[in-house]
Amino acid sequence: MFHLRSRTGPEWTEVVLGDFDAFLRDHASCERKALATAMSLVGHYPDKVELVDAMLEVALEELDHFRCVWEIMRERGCKLASDVKDPYVAGLRTQLRRGKDTYFLDRLLTSAIIEARSCERLGLVAEALQPGKLKDFYRELTQCEARHHALFVGLGERYHARELVSQRLDGLLDFEAEMLAALPVRVAVH
Ligand SMILES: [Fe+2]
Ligand SMILES: [Fe+2]
Repeated sequence: MFHLRSRTGPEWTEVVLGDFDAFLRDHASCERKALATAMSLVGHYPDKVELVDAMLEVALEELDHFRCVWEIMRERGCKLASDVKDPYVAGLRTQLRRGKDTYFLDRLLTSAIIEARSCERLGLVAEALQPGKLKDFYRELTQCEARHHALFVGLGERYHARELVSQRLDGLLDFEAEMLAALPVRVAVH
């Protein structure tokens, strides 16, 4: 478990609740991208048995999340959108170092941070929504996503020295908080 270095302010929740259909469109994309990331790690590191097992679990959960968000969208008459670049994810990706081992570790740790920030924000949505089906869905989702960030860090520690993982995570968490503070508030998960 680790803690993010900043908290999302109330202005983000306000913007998101102000255009919830647009938020759902972005949220659906995020779930689909999380699924794609898990399967891409399987493709890049097929010899790492524990990683493959863990990523298959994550991929199945993210696929389920995507389907749930899509069902909510359908009920609201809302359509999926084509992909737009996520400045938050793009910013984190600038931190991926070259080198076989360092690149692998950075991919795991940036994924962990994306999961942690998503979890924080989905939790804020769950808190802010009026009691009902949608609130219950975001509550359950937050609980599920809470496991993912720890899982990615655990994989980092499975394949790299603990000391190395905590040092790198420390640097990436500082970077994430600074970068996020400089980004505009969007009707989006990040
Ligand atoms: Fe998810
Ligand atoms: Fe996740």
